[in-house]
This record gives sequence, C-alpha cells and structure tokens, in this order.
Amino acid sequence: MGGNAAEFVVTAGPTREYLDPVRFLSNPSTGRMGFAVAQAAAKRGCRVTLVAGPVSLPTPAGVKRVDVTSAREMEKRAVEAVSAAKGKCVFVATAAVADWRPARCAAAKLKKGASRSMTLRLVRNPDILRSVSRKRARGAFRARLRLVGFAAETGDPSKEAMRKLREKGLDFIVANDVSAPGCGFAVPTNRAVFFMRDGSRVELPMMSKLELARRIVSKALEEDRR
Ligand code: PMT
Repeated sequence: MGGNAAEFVVTAGPTREYLDPVRFLSNPSTGRMGFAVAQAAAKRGCRVTLVAGPVSLPTPAGVKRVDVTSAREMEKRAVEAVSAAKGKCVFVATAAVADWRPARCAAAKLKKGASRSMTLRLVRNPDILRSVSRKRARGAFRARLRLVGFAAETGDPSKEAMRKLREKGLDFIVANDVSAPGCGFAVPTNRAVFFMRDGSRVELPMMSKLELARRIVSKALEEDRR
C-alpha cells in the first residue's frame, strides 16, 4: 500500500438473526457487490477490511476478511476496523443488514406442538452506518473518515436515497433499484445512481458489479482529495 493510500472498511452480504439454533431471519444478499468493492479497493493499492455476513464467496486477493453472522456482530467488527484506521479511511456499507431480530433466541429447536400459529416478537437491530456516522460526528475515530452508503429501493430511488444520505450523514450514497431485472441481489450486474451531498447525482448504466465497484472506489478517493 502506498503511504497515501486510503484504508477501506466494507460491509457485505446479509446478516442472520436466529430465533432458535436452526432457524433465522435473513435476505437474499450474496455479498457480490461488497466483495467487488473490496476487490476494487485492494487493486487500487488500499488496505481493505471486509466485514462479511454469511456468504460463500472467495476472499479477494490482498483483502483482510472478518466473518460475522448477526447485525450486532457486524456492527462491533466494523466499528473495530474503523477505529483501528489511521489517516484516510472510507467506510462502504454494502451489506443488507437485517433491521429486526427476534427478541429472544431459544436455546433449543422450537417445537411445533399442536399450535396452528405462532407470534414472533422482533426488536430493532442497530443501524451500523448510522452508528459509525454518529461516532464520526463525536470525533471517536483517529482516521479522516468518508462514509458511503447504499440504498436498496424498489422503483425510483431518488427520494429515499436523499433521505438516507441526509439522515445517516453520508458523503455519498449508491442507490439501486433492487426490483429491476439485472440489478440488486444475487446477480453479477447492477445499475446505480450516485447521490452526492451537494445535491448532484451521477446516473450510471447497467454494468458488472466489479465495474460499478471501481466507480465507487474512484468516487470515494476523488471525494477524499477535496
Ligand atoms: O450482495 P448482493 O447479492 O451482490 O446484493 C447487493 C445488494 C442489493 C445487497 C446491494 O447492492 C445493496 O443495495 N446494499 C444495501 C442493502 C440495504 O440494506 O439497503 P438499505 O437501503 O436498507 O440500507 C441503507 C444503508 O444503511 C445501506 O448502506 C446499509 O448497508 C446500511 N444499513 C442498513 C440497516 C442497518 N441496520 N445497518 C446498516 O448499516
């Protein structure tokens, strides 16, 4: 890594929120988008920590991988990685973090018994990106930190992406319409719009996730030079 290269901390994949030892809440994220960002950043000579939920992808060359299962673990390990960074650091949150988890995880497999229905009580998970952003605002990190979020939307992402950008205090957000063919979860391609803090936007055509990842890394490093 060159002396001036930024460090990247990337979250990727889904999280799993167990209700008993064999059942969990999750989503279809495969980690492809996040692993591509990690790969592209490493290729640019950056030190990269990839905090990955349960996925079955090989670790990109030159990347330090930290495997996690739940949102709370992902938050802990992501904050640790950002806390360890010095100089310039870019946090890219590509993970599809479960917003809710079962209020309790049973120690043994839940039995069906004779009941016809079951009520599952859920509690909120931490918002990892928001908590990193709040820590940055409190001056908790040594590194000069840039925050890049994703917005997974169905339909026109503009309004929601701008809201998330503002509310989570991001430097920019990558919005993707996960209901469009060839976009979002579990496909090798994606189409995205970058929404910047100054209100500008960059609309990109459909491309491979690796090419999109290269554009994200370039944008983050360009922002870093400002
Ligand atoms: O993994 P793939 O199969 O390649 O799929 C890629 C993807 C669809 C997962 C990816 O392109 C994507 O859209 N990632 C964001 C998924 C998401 O949870 O988006 P969101 O709009 O709900 O969340 C907004 C941002 O906050 C995201 O950066 C998310 O990582 C972050 N977040 C959300 C909830 C939470 N509890 N903690 C978070 O950090």
